[in-house]
Amino acid sequence: MGPDLKNRNLINTLDFSVEEQEAVFSLAGEIIKGPRAYSKLLEGVIMASLFFEPSTRTRLSFEAAMLRLGGGVIGFSDSGSSSVAKGESISDTIRTVCAYSDIIVMRHPKEGTPLVAANNSTVPIINAGDGGREHPTQTLADLLTIKSYHTSIENLTVGCCGDLKFGRTVHSLVRNIGRYNNVSFIFVSPPELTIPGFIKSHLDENGIAYRETAALEDAIPQMDVLYMTRVQRERFFNEEDYIRLKDTYILDKKKLALSGPGLIVLHPLPRVNEISYDVDDDPKSAYFVQVGYGMYVRMALIAKLLGAV
Ligand code: CP
Repeated sequence: MGPDLKNRNLINTLDFSVEEQEAVFSLAGEIIKGPRAYSKLLEGVIMASLFFEPSTRTRLSFEAAMLRLGGGVIGFSDSGSSSVAKGESISDTIRTVCAYSDIIVMRHPKEGTPLVAANNSTVPIINAGDGGREHPTQTLADLLTIKSYHTSIENLTVGCCGDLKFGRTVHSLVRNIGRYNNVSFIFVSPPELTIPGFIKSHLDENGIAYRETAALEDAIPQMDVLYMTRVQRERFFNEEDYIRLKDTYILDKKKLALSGPGLIVLHPLPRVNEISYDVDDDPKSAYFVQVGYGMYVRMALIAKLLGAV
């Protein structure tokens, strides 16, 4: 049976306990083994997909997840085509969408908006990314991928490389994975894009080891997981800084050759230049496996929040 997640929201990466998210991973594993057994689970159920920011993977994997569970999807991928463009508030939008759907997935450029939505909703709200702060379902996909390669999430050294200041996937991943035994971090970034103070405070308060460096080549041999990230152009205040910093780290075959045999490379995608295409066929590259797990873990999440399993 396991923990009951019916009617819960997922806004923050720490909203589920380790036991609760392990139950989501366990269900995702069952779905991967036999997806057809779940193809009618949510017949007659509707998910609203409200994307106020661009997305390929998160939106399409959520929508594919709901369709593969037998449910239906409504929503928008361009808020300009909704009544938000006429000045409607988030609270009124959510109260309206609740009347038409059973669960809402939302991405918004403003940090905290999914929480505002949850406070005005009668159905579960899932945060699909809010500004530079959180992306908790990406973390579920990341952790499921790590488990599939390393068996367990314990005893790992996790490197995070690139834009650690604005990269919401890193913020969610680090705080979440820090709950597992004997995990430590190496943060690789230029000085302008270091990991924010609120993440470091969280690690310090919880006695989780980390170090910061600007040198990927020196750090890669010690890593079990390398989490590459894109420099987040949309969150920069000026284009000159973006252009100066965007190609600081490019993982190529030469740098990958410095890593140990157990390393896996993750990336939430989209990629711009930070991983050379010739790395894609290396067995250490796990980012397209990660894309696939994103859909399965979202199937499990939707099913759990709706109390269908
Ligand atoms: N990983 C991720 O959030 O990708 P999208 O922006 O394409 O959804």
